[in-house]
Amino acid sequence: MKPKWITACALLLAAAAFALPGVTALGAQTPSSEWPVSDPEGLPEGVWKDTVLYGRDLIVDTYAHVGPEVIEPEMRYSGNNLACQNCHLGAGTQRYSLSLVGVYGVFPTYMGRENEVRTLEERVNGCFERSMNGRALPVDGTEMKAILAYIQFLSTGIPIGEQIEGRGSPDMPFLERAADTVRGESVYARNCALCHQPDGQGIRNGEAGDAKGYLYPPLWGPDSYNNGAGMHRLIASARFIRASMPLGTTFEAPSLSVEDAWDVAAYINSHPRPVRPDLDADYPDRTRKPVDAPFPPFLDDFPLEQHRLGPFQPILDAR
Ligand code: HEC
Ligand code: HEC
Repeated sequence: MKPKWITACALLLAAAAFALPGVTALGAQTPSSEWPVSDPEGLPEGVWKDTVLYGRDLIVDTYAHVGPEVIEPEMRYSGNNLACQNCHLGAGTQRYSLSLVGVYGVFPTYMGRENEVRTLEERVNGCFERSMNGRALPVDGTEMKAILAYIQFLSTGIPIGEQIEGRGSPDMPFLERAADTVRGESVYARNCALCHQPDGQGIRNGEAGDAKGYLYPPLWGPDSYNNGAGMHRLIASARFIRASMPLGTTFEAPSLSVEDAWDVAAYINSHPRPVRPDLDADYPDRTRKPVDAPFPPFLDDFPLEQHRLGPFQPILDAR
């Protein structure tokens, strides 16, 4: 039997596929391609719709509302000029590109990083503090409520607790060798530099200081995610890149080979970026620390270099 949301969203889906560029390429070969994306523009007029739309704006144009260059200093929550959507593609609607669809009902959840049960507000703030290299939003403020309203809207009809297919990034085979940053540099030059630029600093929409963010976001350097972010871990980064980059790629038709994705991810993350203090406090239960967390302390005797670049299977096997 089809879940109810399929019926509810079937009509909106066709419209959304045209409205949202990231969604057009989703194929039709599996039942799960009836991906529950609907368009908040279709909501009845009123405060709820306005709030959901503000939440979407915060995901799409984060830098314009809470970025480091906005006029009111107290509204500067992000430390960089990225947008949430730079990683959560299609405003969080693109399947397997760190989608936010269905995420509302999986929180609160246990998180190894803090070794405690965390709420969705705390998870959003995790990305503010790390991916956005900034500070936490007040949990009862207008912005947090709007982001939650939008994620709840995207999760409409999906049962509480259901791990929906298409969340996160798809699994990918490990390499038997360490990722190779020298090979990664040439993969980058051929496939990425055109947009993200040879120096990795991207291209701004306007001028520095105008709070207009990026046409092509930076991948390292002072305006990028910090070293405590998920994207700084090689497995998370390689999986995202293979399923989502170069722009226009979807998980169904990756552009890069598995090998190229690992090596280019290693190359990107071998450059300097903002440093988050006290990373040794992450994963206080060390048995929960992911093998690719590239900072000490570790439970095992594998060198830092291997946690950074792999190969990861021997570390997993030793556990
Ligand atoms: C640099 C890339 C990047 C940016 C920018 C970013 N995120 Fe994330 N976000 C991630 C990654 C990677 C994960 C998954 C981490 C993991 O593996 O647990 C994640 C996870 C999440 C989750 C949990 C999703 C789930 O499936 O459990 C939420 C909610 C979230 N981000 C919200 C936001 C919001 C809101 C913003 C903007 C303020 C944002 N993120 C900006 C990379 C990013
Ligand atoms: C055609 C232009 C284009 C190409 C080529 C391209 N990207 Fe991107 N990339 C983008 C855009 C645009 C975004 C932000 C997506 C959005 O906001 O919708 C992005 C986002 C990203 C992000 C997450 C955001 C951040 O700033 O960290 C990473 C990582 C990334 N790209 C890596 C790569 C890698 C690696 C390659 C080469 C294999 C690549 N990209 C090729 C345009 C491109």
